[in-house]
Amino acid sequence: MSLALYPCECQPLNRVGHRLTPEVGDAVAMPPGNQDEESAARSAETVRQLQDLATPAGAAALTRAAELLAGRTDAVTALSRLRTEVGVQLAGPAWGIARQRAKARPAFGADADRLLFTGDTLEQAGRPALADRRAGRLLTGGVASVADLGCAAGTDTLALARAGASVLAVDRDPVARTLTAANAAAVGVADRVQVVDADVVDLVAAAADGQVAGCDAAVLDPARRAGGRRLLDPDRWSPPWSTVLALLERVPRCVVKVAPGLDHDRVPAGIEAEWVSIGGSIVEALLWGRGLSTTWRRATLVRGGTIAELIADDDPGLAPVGPVRGWLHEPDPAAIRSGLVSVVAANLGATLVDPTIAYLTSDSPTGSPWASSHPVTDVLPFNLKKLKALLRSRDVGRVVVKKRGSPIEPDALARQLRGPGSGTAVVVVTRVAGAPTVLVCGPPSA
Ligand SMILES: C[S@@+](CC[C@H](N)C(=O)[O-])C[C@H]1O[C@@H](n2cnc3c(N)ncnc32)[C@H](O)[C@@H]1O
Repeated sequence: MSLALYPCECQPLNRVGHRLTPEVGDAVAMPPGNQDEESAARSAETVRQLQDLATPAGAAALTRAAELLAGRTDAVTALSRLRTEVGVQLAGPAWGIARQRAKARPAFGADADRLLFTGDTLEQAGRPALADRRAGRLLTGGVASVADLGCAAGTDTLALARAGASVLAVDRDPVARTLTAANAAAVGVADRVQVVDADVVDLVAAAADGQVAGCDAAVLDPARRAGGRRLLDPDRWSPPWSTVLALLERVPRCVVKVAPGLDHDRVPAGIEAEWVSIGGSIVEALLWGRGLSTTWRRATLVRGGTIAELIADDDPGLAPVGPVRGWLHEPDPAAIRSGLVSVVAANLGATLVDPTIAYLTSDSPTGSPWASSHPVTDVLPFNLKKLKALLRSRDVGRVVVKKRGSPIEPDALARQLRGPGSGTAVVVVTRVAGAPTVLVCGPPSA
């Protein structure tokens, strides 16, 4: 993977001929076709840049870069000023870090301004609040040492160390190791963190007696992207699915981050799978080792400072199906992905509108965080002409289109349905008892 710090930031400038600082690529130019060597040389250069930034002069350059970024100085001007003020060696790296910190701030808060990230490691980083939550569960029962198997910039390592664990942070990438060591020092947990160069595949293959690399517990967060693309096949993750399975078998106190779209059939028996959502989107999926699993599936919904959880000790099967009633409920995606829609249905006294579609219906709105409810005003077979006429008769000029189980394109249909009326509606295109159907609804209940 490419972890270059400065090239990511400034290659576009180079291409148009604005060479403002020494280019990392200049120092490490390799003959074409020598990609491994080129990537190793780029990593070595990035490590050197990070080491420079760890000096007092580097810290001053970072402060100045942050000021220029906060002052909305454009990149060309900022790099030019930095070059004059802090020197060519530090200008580009400091600007690159300042930009990554600005991107990290929404998730990392005040920590963002003392942590170091490259573009790649920030992209791969989980949310610190969720890393804290995982660390808390992993450390229950007196676990003292944890291996972070693929630490990248150290989000999990920091969470575990802050929760009191001794952490063995492993990565085969030298840039990741440099970042994790620097970040552990920056937040004051370096005494609890050891950073090592090793291949996770080998460490897990050698795991025995419930331990990996001498640790009682482990976090594994495989890289699931390559060349800027998601790797849908878990056998192509790094480390691959075989290592995930081996860890789950050998180290009972472990948690593995997996793709939210993971096929349920892949989850081994006795392993708890958890899907976590924030703001209506799934943000992570986890497999908990048998020493920590307490249920079959868990859906977790994080809203502000509160957490709601749904669990099932066994597959709860399908919810009952029934006719559309006065209210339509959209279950949260964590409930859907975890296979727990029928648990939501039972809690709400609701039924599915179709056995294949995750819309529920009942006679009243829900006060539940697990579903948003819309009052249903009309149910009609899908027919564009009739739908337009109905909306016009109701003075509806703007609609939000939602769909499930239909090939329509919501934005395109919303444009087609736009009219002169002053009212608004939610138009749900779906299947009801197998038939393409439109439900015209009011806005969601508060
Ligand atoms: C998705 S990132 C981890 C992100 C981290 N948990 C976080 O939230 O910041 C995966 C990391 O695993 C490392 N990695 C992938 N395969 C590895 C292997 N076989 N051995 C060691 N490290 C590996 C990559 O270099 C990368 O830094």
